[in-house]
Amino acid sequence: MSERRPAKSKYTLDRGIPGAFEGETVTRRRMMVLAANVTGGIAIGGVALSATGFALGQPFVEVDTGWHDVGAEDEIPDDTYVPRVITLDPKTGQVGKTTVYVRKHNDRVDTEGPQDQYSRYVAISSRCMHMGCPARYVQAAQHFICPCHGGVYDFVGKVAGGPPVRPLDRFYTRVVNGRVEVGRRYSVNSELKRFSPRPPGQALDGVGQYLFPSRPTMRKLPGT
Ligand code: FES
Repeated sequence: MSERRPAKSKYTLDRGIPGAFEGETVTRRRMMVLAANVTGGIAIGGVALSATGFALGQPFVEVDTGWHDVGAEDEIPDDTYVPRVITLDPKTGQVGKTTVYVRKHNDRVDTEGPQDQYSRYVAISSRCMHMGCPARYVQAAQHFICPCHGGVYDFVGKVAGGPPVRPLDRFYTRVVNGRVEVGRRYSVNSELKRFSPRPPGQALDGVGQYLFPSRPTMRKLPGT
């Protein structure tokens, strides 16, 4: 009478992989760990790609480094702004244009920020420092208003209400042969101190200036 061999349990662990079911080459636990690792890798890759694109892509958005004529000195008042459109990137058509609000330096209101050869005229960017919508100077209110989320800036571009995190950016200005020219953009903190240009949404007061350092490609600005 032949000896009967005990039947193998389907849960037997004699296949060389601890915890494996019969016929499996990879345990469910291993499969789950592998899936978690792949998912984590994809998530980290996505974040890294976004950060790299943010760091490298921005210099290509604003490529202008020159000076733009915005009118004769006697065309620019000191008690209100005149809008001027300048081209930051000629290759991108209308997208490369931006509106700048220009006025003459006024001792009565321009008491903060550097007083030097670049501040004889004030040129304020229309790009809102919350999320970048176009803000507009409203003469009746003597404030800049952003229609997107209710951002309000006072006459010198400081935040007066709403979500923007810093004053409106400015541009260097100079006078050449009686003509006012607007140069490169710079950012300011709430005391109108100059900083190299930052994107919207980055505060520059307190630790903000260290949390959001400027890009190396944009550091060579006078007075920053
Ligand atoms: S983009 Fe201007 S308030 Fe939000």
